[in-house]
Amino acid sequence: VKERTEALEAANEELTSINEELFYQRKELEKALKDLKDAQKQIVISEKMASIGVLTAGIAHEINNPINFISSGTVGLEMQIDRLLSAIREYTNLSNVEKSREELDLMESIDSKYEVTKAIENIPKLIKTIHAGVERTTAIVKGLRTFSRMDEESKVFAHINELINSTLTILYNKYKNRIEVQTFFDEKDNVMCFPGKMGQLFLNLFINSIQSIEGQGAIKIETASDDTLNVFKVVISDTGSGMSEEVQKRIFDPFYTTKPIGQGTGLGLAIVHGIVNEHNGKIEVSSAVGKGTTVTVTIPKN
Ligand SMILES: Nc1ncnc2c1ncn2[C@@H]1O[C@H](COP(=O)(O)OP(=O)(O)OP(=O)(O)O)[C@@H](O)[C@H]1O
Ligand SMILES: [Mg+2]
Repeated sequence: VKERTEALEAANEELTSINEELFYQRKELEKALKDLKDAQKQIVISEKMASIGVLTAGIAHEINNPINFISSGTVGLEMQIDRLLSAIREYTNLSNVEKSREELDLMESIDSKYEVTKAIENIPKLIKTIHAGVERTTAIVKGLRTFSRMDEESKVFAHINELINSTLTILYNKYKNRIEVQTFFDEKDNVMCFPGKMGQLFLNLFINSIQSIEGQGAIKIETASDDTLNVFKVVISDTGSGMSEEVQKRIFDPFYTTKPIGQGTGLGLAIVHGIVNEHNGKIEVSSAVGKGTTVTVTIPKN
């Protein structure tokens, strides 16, 4: 009986450990399943983005032409109106010296009937507003064109500073009146790269910086060309929440996020890491809790 009991106990122990092992494996499987579901979600999003990209590229291309008409039209219009305004001013001045009382009265009545003085004051302001609007629309269309070029096959030379500006234009709504964004650009910014992917890289990094800042803050973006090492460097610093050592160790892991469920996929920096690798570059992060984060991306210029 004693032997049987011992044997049973041993078997029981074994069963318990197998059970534990199974429990552990089930947990692993559940996690894998969740990761797969997340990945699938991401793939669906990417597919959608790709078709939106095609649509956007078409629209951006079509809008580009009429914007050019408006843009050159307003420049021409401004020149013509300037001439008219100068002529009107000269007429008015002439009147002071040479016109009779009656003529002066007549001119004054015309002025007040059509509110000429007011019009002369307002026209330059209106033209300025139109210019600003055209400039902004041009920037948005340029941004859209950058982001619709997602599935590039070969690298081309692109101006990184322009990519950064386009990305900032697209994100403007997320940071205006809240975050002061300063850029310090090195003009030698022509770099052999996949421009759409680089746009995606900046988008992910800027969004992270924007999201890390609660309320007011600042983001500084610096570019520098190192011709001796033949590399181009982009340094992004924010005054956001910063990260602990533990968080920093895991930020490039796919699906790692500290954001509430449903808010972040945790793929942003994994994608950034992939894009940096595709360019044979490197990415460095330095961060302190409560102080902010600095991300440095370095890629070969060609
Ligand atoms: N600039 C930053 N400041 C503070 N924390 C950051 C910054 N950038 C990244 N992190 C931390 O790294 C984590 C991972 O970033 P990642 O971009 O990969 O995913 P996410 O932003 O959480 O989600 P998603 O990018 O998919 O929306 C973030 O959850 C955040 O904790
Ligand atoms: Mg992110």
